[in-house]
Amino acid sequence: MTNEQQMELTPLQRMAAAARDEAAAAGKLTGKAKPQGGHPSWVPKVGKRPEWTKKLGGKPKGALHPASVAGRGYRPGGGEAAKQYKERTGIQAPRIIAWEITRSCNLSCEHCRAAAEFGYYPGELSLDECKAVIDNIASITNPILILTGGEPFMRPDIWEIVDYAREAGCMPVIGTNGTTITPEIAQKMAEHHISRISISLDFPDAERHDAFRGQQGSFDDAVRGIKLAQEHGVGVQVNTTVTKKNAEYLEEMHDMVRGLDAVAFHPFLLVPTGRGESLREVELTPEEYEEVLTWAYYKQKTSPLHFKPTDAPQYYRISHQRLREEGDTSTAEEYGLNAMTRGCLGGISFVFISHVGDVQPCGYFDMQLGNVKETPFSEIWTNSPVFNDLRDFSKLKGKCGACEYRGVCGGCRARALSATGDYMEEEPYCSYVPRSLRKEGQDDGTLKMPAFALGALCPDADAACEGDGDVR
Ligand SMILES: C[S@@+](CC[C@H](N)C(=O)[O-])C[C@H]1O[C@@H](n2cnc3c(N)ncnc32)[C@H](O)[C@@H]1O
Ligand code: SF4
Ligand code: SF4
Repeated sequence: MTNEQQMELTPLQRMAAAARDEAAAAGKLTGKAKPQGGHPSWVPKVGKRPEWTKKLGGKPKGALHPASVAGRGYRPGGGEAAKQYKERTGIQAPRIIAWEITRSCNLSCEHCRAAAEFGYYPGELSLDECKAVIDNIASITNPILILTGGEPFMRPDIWEIVDYAREAGCMPVIGTNGTTITPEIAQKMAEHHISRISISLDFPDAERHDAFRGQQGSFDDAVRGIKLAQEHGVGVQVNTTVTKKNAEYLEEMHDMVRGLDAVAFHPFLLVPTGRGESLREVELTPEEYEEVLTWAYYKQKTSPLHFKPTDAPQYYRISHQRLREEGDTSTAEEYGLNAMTRGCLGGISFVFISHVGDVQPCGYFDMQLGNVKETPFSEIWTNSPVFNDLRDFSKLKGKCGACEYRGVCGGCRARALSATGDYMEEEPYCSYVPRSLRKEGQDDGTLKMPAFALGALCPDADAACEGDGDVR
């Protein structure tokens, strides 16, 4: 690309084009993507010895996860209980559960979906109630249990919850802002076999990160937390919440995360709920989403990090389109049928439990489908009409309902709910015009970049994959 051509692009378009050039130079535009989300980054790869077992010394045998299937390692939602549950009900049991074990937090970030603050939140589940929830979960599945918050280390009985969950066959991992990690907490993580945590870093420098997180020193403390965790054999994933304020720094963020020896980088696309509602004016536009997610698609091809945009189901449609363009001939089985690789997993294989026990499809989906203090979790998962709607893609409305990619994408149901009051309505932040809705001569609504910068989508790409992405 010449300098003149570069000047015609916006900064985000330039970033995407550069990532594509990098992938092309590395010979990666081959129609073969690295697995995206196919293997959840929380889980040590099958056959690979988890870091924490090395710290224990000796043979890994005694340290294998209780839910491991002999010779196959741990598979979330792949244990015996989940198989029996599926046979009995016809419903996939959850594979990943995010559990807000407390809403109390030492920070007060301007985007926080939980609007978390320091202090006591009435009605939080007691330790006994937590154990009862774990027993019930374990009766139907063996999921990755993301213990999150608020700030999960503010809950003094967290280690009892971790041990109880692990012994019940779940894989507990922790989502933290990192600033609360002390040498003692890092030591506890090793002793209690935490193999993976996520830590949030939203900007590549202390000044802007601290302003976003509302506390001076939070960047340095989070970086210290990353190093302490790593010294104790705990793998670190970095989460970055993306808005107009930091989208242009994603390349810099990626390099910083790499330099920190993190194992994964998950850009979270802001969902304007909780305190995040006040950030609507800095939310990306649908076109900017397209550019950032296209950058992510090309960047993951050369990145050594497990790299997955979160809260952005269109990423799977974009990946599918770009792979087609590169000559990929994968079938629906490899994309849509495996729910692990699908865009929106809320109610399908993912679920959220709040600090007071409310069950929601995800933390951003502002609707309570039951409460575990009143109804066992498994009954809510099985019987909630909302969950059953979310599992039936034929109920999707608007352009998501008409979209040939609805099986791999599905749109963000939380954003649809917040924008229209109807969780089955179309995703408001997708610029794609489904094929069946296009007027003659109308383009598909994506990528407003000149073809010289980013190979224009092959006009046959859609035709070639007719029906492929659609899982009804
Ligand atoms: C709710 S926090 C809880 C864990 C911990 N306190 C932290 O900040 O990492 C979990 C993740 O969600 C992100 N997050 C919070 N509010 C969000 C929003 N409105 N949209 C997108 N991501 C959000 C946070 O930045 C963090 O990476
Ligand atoms: S995003 Fe995390 S650290 Fe920030 S206020 Fe919310 S829970 Fe606390
Ligand atoms: S129209 Fe809906 S289903 Fe199709 S790509 Fe966009 S968000 Fe996904």
